[in-house]
Amino acid sequence: MTTLLATWDRPGEVAIQSAWKARSQGADLISTLEQGLATAELDENLIAIGAGSVPNSKGIIELDASIMEGREFRSGAVCAVTDIVPVISVARAVMEKTPHVMLAGDRARDFALSLGMKPRDLSTENSRERYAEWLKTQPDVAAYVHASTDKMGDTITMIGLEEGPHVVAASSTSGLPFKLPGRVGDSPIIGAGIYADDEVGAAGATGNGEALWREVASLRAVEAMAHGMTPQQACEHVIRHLIRRQPESLALPSVVFAMNVKGEFGAATCISPFQLWVCRDGEFEMVVFEPISL
Ligand code: GLY
Repeated sequence: MTTLLATWDRPGEVAIQSAWKARSQGADLISTLEQGLATAELDENLIAIGAGSVPNSKGIIELDASIMEGREFRSGAVCAVTDIVPVISVARAVMEKTPHVMLAGDRARDFALSLGMKPRDLSTENSRERYAEWLKTQPDVAAYVHASTDKMGDTITMIGLEEGPHVVAASSTSGLPFKLPGRVGDSPIIGAGIYADDEVGAAGATGNGEALWREVASLRAVEAMAHGMTPQQACEHVIRHLIRRQPESLALPSVVFAMNVKGEFGAATCISPFQLWVCRDGEFEMVVFEPISL
């Protein structure tokens, strides 16, 4: 049995369907998640990640991505990368071709070019229009995030489980809309945006990157499962802790989701509903989680 999870309605559907297609054609779990996220990064209609996503405050799309496998804790990540897609493939190459965990900014871009990837303009007519509108009105970023995360999310994070048991987690994002150039959120940070441990399970996050990073949300969820909580209890534990200890962060949604090595999964969200795609050997289902409070 292969179980895949992917965040958010529209972008998650694109990612999980592409991931399952790769899996059904024989891809290993790392390639399965890479394929799912790469397809979504290359889809210019999705505003959460990759080409056509929401730019920073200077109008430039800066991307973050990460991947971690739970057998040996091998991990790779890139942050603040411009002109390159899919950055999830660069993160994978950091994991597999270097002794490092993360490469940043222009040096990550140089690394991608050394792999033979070609630079390209990631902006689209839509992303330029969104930026122009934002420049005119300078709306509250929180209001924008609430509107844009309704179905499109701010990040796609995925978890995969196969017999072994073996888990892999991966994430890709353009980060907080209209962020300061160089700002990095939780998604490429191992422990914050993703975590995977074959002895326990895996977790991922999406939403308010600063709050989720301060929580070290994914590791916190995996540790809670290691101490006996179900995935649902573990995710609620993390989000309740965030609500109690970081109440100022509630201007933006924060979400944690997790799966244990038995294939049980759960998620918790604050402020707004969260949609999680589940695929069990090609059977797809979207589960909606309502916000919790203390
Ligand atoms: N969760 C994505 C970010 O804040 O960058």
